[in-house]
Amino acid sequence: MDSIVVKGGRELNGQIHIAGAKNAALALMPATLLSEEPLTLTNAPRLSDMKTMAELLRSLGAEITALQDGKVQVMSTHGAINTTADYDIVRKMRASNLVLGPLLAREGHAIVSLPGGCAIGARPMDIHTDGLEKMGASIELKDGYLHAKAAGGKLKGAVIDFPFASVGATENLMMAATLAKGTTVINNAAREPEIVDLATCLRAMGAQIEGDGTSRIEIQGVDRLGGATHPVVTDRIELGTYMLAPVFTGGEIECIGGRMHLVESFVEKLDAAGVDVTETKLGLKVKRRGDRPRAVDVTTEPFPGFPTDLQAQMMAMLCIADGKSVLTETIFENRFMHAPELIRMGADIEVHGNTATVTGVDKMKGAPVMATDLRASVSLILAGLASEGETIVNRVYHLDRGYEHVEEKLGAVGAQIERITGK
Ligand code: EPZ
Repeated sequence: MDSIVVKGGRELNGQIHIAGAKNAALALMPATLLSEEPLTLTNAPRLSDMKTMAELLRSLGAEITALQDGKVQVMSTHGAINTTADYDIVRKMRASNLVLGPLLAREGHAIVSLPGGCAIGARPMDIHTDGLEKMGASIELKDGYLHAKAAGGKLKGAVIDFPFASVGATENLMMAATLAKGTTVINNAAREPEIVDLATCLRAMGAQIEGDGTSRIEIQGVDRLGGATHPVVTDRIELGTYMLAPVFTGGEIECIGGRMHLVESFVEKLDAAGVDVTETKLGLKVKRRGDRPRAVDVTTEPFPGFPTDLQAQMMAMLCIADGKSVLTETIFENRFMHAPELIRMGADIEVHGNTATVTGVDKMKGAPVMATDLRASVSLILAGLASEGETIVNRVYHLDRGYEHVEEKLGAVGAQIERITGK
């Protein structure tokens, strides 16, 4: 297993290119199941999660070609397709559950393994399955697999009220509704930019969707969808992660491809912490005002609130801020696993349930630490940038799921960082 070694204390200056969004691409790729025509994604991120999704779609009968060093994915699914998504592949990545809606819409039946729990929480699928049942699907859990069948082989439009603005459930139901008979309305839908990106791609394929980006989405079912070429939206979580880097080290970083509308609530918190963010023609320029950020309280919420996927990175920054901050995680039940690792580096954090109180310290010290989930692992690298001595982050396969070549991107702007290839 690879590790990443960071030596702290270097100021960062320069430009970092932000890739296409992992959480958009993982919803866009299953959309190929909805049409027999080719679907091409450009600006696709080059991540291990994309490889896992490609493996799953190939097992269902899709043909996928990665071009231009993986940044373009050309996919097509013609003819009969296999409608069983096997546990062996699904267990590696929860987003595999996003084939359920498209398979039901295309073939009228599907057998999809439950993804199983994950480090950050139980992450059930009840909002997905309740919505699909409202559209006339019968869904039974047998031996860890969801066996789904659409009555009469075709889903029908329905009005669906979500108890929680689930991102994945919004994506699954939106895709299922594109080929259903009649009109579907999703109330309390998720509003993330990745939802808008998926709706934009589905419209390019011929779907009739309105209201994406608001909490009420209306979809008129059509008989068939065609192909499309779609550019994957910029990754707002990778963007926020690299915007934080100069806050740890001093200096100025321009995140190329970043746009303010993707990270508004995050920028509000950076401003309160004493960080300047300026939108340029190319992206977002970030520089901290003083020689140390200020403490700020943060509560994670569905978009447009503060993103849960930037909570770990923000906690790492607050560990060196001037003052006491309170972080409240409202989306997942177990998303503070980075706290004990940051404490090993000298941070002062007290966790009580879904609240963490962080008291800033003057200096943190590098240490060997363990990555536990994707965003926790990158928060440890950020902390290492501002720590005395050497930080060794182990199990970086978590990192490779969501960040392209993090050591190259940070190294190019002055960080002392290298990857040690493990046995
Ligand atoms: C997406 O996961 C993202 N993943 C997550 O990013 C992100 O943290 C999450 O949205 C919230 O923004 C992808 O897009 C691939 P949810 P998803 O359904 O769709 C509960 C990362 O680091 N819930 O909005 O699974 C669930 O347990 C990852 O890139 C139900 O109870 O998120 C969780 O507590 C991590 N029943 C909360 O809702 C359901 O049927 C949010 O889940 C569905 C969800």
